[in-house]
Amino acid sequence: MKAIAVIPGQQNSIHMQEAPDPKPAAGEALVRVLRVGLCGTDAEINSGLYGEAPAGSDYLILGHENFGLVEAVGGAAKGIKPGDYVVASVRRPCTECFNCQHGRADLCSSGNYTERGIKGRHGYMAEHYTETPEFLFKIDEEIKDIGVLLEPMTIVEKGAAEAIEIQKRLPSKPRTAMVFGAGPVGLLAAAALRVRDLDTLVVSKEDATDTRAQIAKAMGCRYHSVQSSPLQELGKQIPAPDIVLECTGSSAVGFLAMQMLAADGILCLLSVTGGDKTELVHAAEINRDLVLRNNVVFGSVNASPTHYQLAIEAMKTAEKRWPGVLGQLITTRLPWTDFAKWFNRQVSGIKSTLEISS
Ligand code: BGC
Repeated sequence: MKAIAVIPGQQNSIHMQEAPDPKPAAGEALVRVLRVGLCGTDAEINSGLYGEAPAGSDYLILGHENFGLVEAVGGAAKGIKPGDYVVASVRRPCTECFNCQHGRADLCSSGNYTERGIKGRHGYMAEHYTETPEFLFKIDEEIKDIGVLLEPMTIVEKGAAEAIEIQKRLPSKPRTAMVFGAGPVGLLAAAALRVRDLDTLVVSKEDATDTRAQIAKAMGCRYHSVQSSPLQELGKQIPAPDIVLECTGSSAVGFLAMQMLAADGILCLLSVTGGDKTELVHAAEINRDLVLRNNVVFGSVNASPTHYQLAIEAMKTAEKRWPGVLGQLITTRLPWTDFAKWFNRQVSGIKSTLEISS
C-alpha cells in the first residue's frame, strides 16, 4: 500500500512510499483510512524535532488524527463490524506502569508508552491499518463528516473534564472560562466548555471579523482580539476566569494565563511547546499570586477511552446546538498526494485534512 512517512530525526524527510499491506490478525479490524487531520505535531516530526520509528523500521508512517471505515475483521473483533466508521486512538500502554495497566496510558508514568504516528508505532497516513477494537471508537452517522476532529477533541475534553474534576475541591462550581488561542485546539476547547454551559471568552490574535472569531461566536462564546488590546491589559478589563485552557502553542502565554486566574481558579496547559525557548517571567509575583489565590495549574496530554466517549457525546451535542459549525473548522481538504503543500506551509486556514480514500 501507499503511505506517507518520515525518517525520524531527519529534517524535511516527508515522502510517499510503498509499505507492506497490513493483514488483520484474529480479533483485529482492517480499517481503510478515509482521511487524516494535519497538526503541529506532524510538522514538528517532519522538522526532525521528535518522532521515533517502530523497532526494526527506519521510517515512521506519520499521522495520528484519523477517520476510517472498517473493511474486514479477522476472526471475532469484539463490537466492530465491516461498514463501521471508526477513529483509532493514538497512545498504546507501556508494560510496566500501574496507570497503563489500568487503562490510563494517557497518564503513563514510565514514559515507555508508544504513540501511533508519533513514537515507536506507525500512524494513519496510509491506505489501511489494523487495530484491536479496544483502541477503536465507533463514529455515528450524525458526526461522520467531522469524525476526523475526534482525536483533537479528546485532548480538550480531557483538559476540561479534569479541570472540573479537580475543582470539586471547592464548594462552588466554575462558571466562567477563557480559552487562549483560536486554532483548531482552541476552538474545540471552546466547544467543550460551551457544551458544559460555561460562560466562555476566546482570546486570540485574529481580529474580530476573522472566521475563527465567527466560529467562536456561533457557539455562544465572546471573543477578544489581542489586536484591540494586548493580553497584559485584558486582565484589567474583564472579570477573572474560573477555568482557563491554554491552546496557543506559546509558553509565554501560559505564564500570562497564570496571572489572569480568578481566586481558586484553574489553568490547564495543553500546548506541547517545541524548542528550548527561555523567557523572563515575574517569578515571585506569579508564585505569590498562585499561592494567595489557591490556584491550580496543570498540564494535560493525550486522552483515555473515557475521554473519547465524552468527546463523541460533546461533538453530537455541538452538532445539535450549532449545526455545521464544527465542520467550519475544516478549511482545506487536500488530496493526500498534495501533502507537501501543507508541510511546505503553502496552506493557511484552520484545520487541513488529507483525503486518502472515499
Ligand atoms: C497528540 C496526542 C499526543 C501528543 C504527544 C498530540 O499532538 O494529539 O495524542 O499524545 O501529541 O505526542
